[in-house]
Amino acid sequence: MAAESTESNRGHTRRSFVKSAGAVAAGVALVGSPRETLAAAGGPKAVQYPDDRHTQACRWPLYGPKDEEAVLDVIRRPSYRPIEQFEKDWREYLGASYVKAHCNGTSALASLYFALDLPAGSEILVPSYTFFATIMPMRLFGLVPVFVDINPRTLNFDLEDARRRLTKNTRALIPVHWLGRPCEMDDILSFGREKGLIVLEDAAHAHGASMQGKKMGTWGRMAIFSYQASKPLPMIEGGMGVYQNRADYERGTTFGNYDLPSGYPQESGYRKYQGTGLGLKFRMHPVSAALGRVQLRELDRRNAMITAQVRRLNDRICALPGLYEQGARPDMQRVYYNWNMLSLDEAQAGMSRAACVKALRAEGVRASAHQYRLQHECAVYAEPQWWHHPPQIPQLPGSEQANRTALGLPLFTAEVPELVEQYAVAFEKVWAHRKELA
Ligand SMILES: Cc1ncc(COP(=O)(O)O)c(C=O)c1O
Repeated sequence: MAAESTESNRGHTRRSFVKSAGAVAAGVALVGSPRETLAAAGGPKAVQYPDDRHTQACRWPLYGPKDEEAVLDVIRRPSYRPIEQFEKDWREYLGASYVKAHCNGTSALASLYFALDLPAGSEILVPSYTFFATIMPMRLFGLVPVFVDINPRTLNFDLEDARRRLTKNTRALIPVHWLGRPCEMDDILSFGREKGLIVLEDAAHAHGASMQGKKMGTWGRMAIFSYQASKPLPMIEGGMGVYQNRADYERGTTFGNYDLPSGYPQESGYRKYQGTGLGLKFRMHPVSAALGRVQLRELDRRNAMITAQVRRLNDRICALPGLYEQGARPDMQRVYYNWNMLSLDEAQAGMSRAACVKALRAEGVRASAHQYRLQHECAVYAEPQWWHHPPQIPQLPGSEQANRTALGLPLFTAEVPELVEQYAVAFEKVWAHRKELA
């Protein structure tokens, strides 16, 4: 990943920095210099952006009159039609065979694990560095999570570690495209084929991301999306299951929909469950679906705009020693979700993450020493009463390293060239003074 970051930085030179700084200074705001005294030592702050505009630059979700109109329309003429309409839109957008809308991503995951129809005790390889919902619904069907490490640079599924955790009971794996960065699905699918494993995807962060031109969420046999408020396609609450084959779709859908089986083909073994389903009601709210239809029209444009902001900043600052981004392969088109997540190699940078974050914050950068809850350390996995087969609690050095090295920056969701410029100067300033911070 280090090489990839360097690759993307080659275009940046001191001259392009001066040029962009000059343009911004002429038009919008005065830009400080990396040579000035650190703000932490009494110098001027590099980020002079007013607080409220800074907050506005990271605003999410972005709703406007078209979203309001769509919501009002459902309220004025209540109907479930927007759900089918959104399913059609999403299926076409992804190029997927079957989709089913859910009330959230967690219920889509529960349906997916039910659809697997695996015997109790079957093991599923899953990162510990994920939201609870990728893992906990397994419990309901006697499935056993096997915690896999991540690559601390990409924050994604570590296939080599997965190989080491295979047992005779391993049946499936579910990588997570963390913060919109695709997992290496070509390698993961080959591994799945080689070992006879079912490949699933948690694409809760990856709306619109693709690899080799194929959308994330269409690589695995089944996948899910979340449309919770912070996600790249925000509906406040909502989720989607994506299925490559009809049998999975019918089984997954019947679990949470008592009223849909009569629509299945005559030969379906699930038609008889019309009126009962198989236990739960996971229907998406039509207001969410109506919001989703409007948001989907903006998805690609917004993803491109947000990516452009990140590139403008990261192409500058990842030239600094020891600073890396969550790099991606050239055949991956990633999206960004919630954070611009970097990582700091303290030895190469010559300063600690804590000192760096403190100095950046003094400059006005909203940086944080990012830590994510590791699932394998949570109480529920260590208590056998919740599990058909209790999970093993492993050592996961890559996940721990991610929590020691990640440096979170806000994601700019508006075009803010002068703020990006001020952030870049703040980083260059902190790095210029890093011996003082060592
Ligand atoms: C990786 C991941 N998977 C699944 C989910 C579950 O989605 P939801 O919050 O819509 O239930 C989330 C939500 O944040 C998530 O981050």
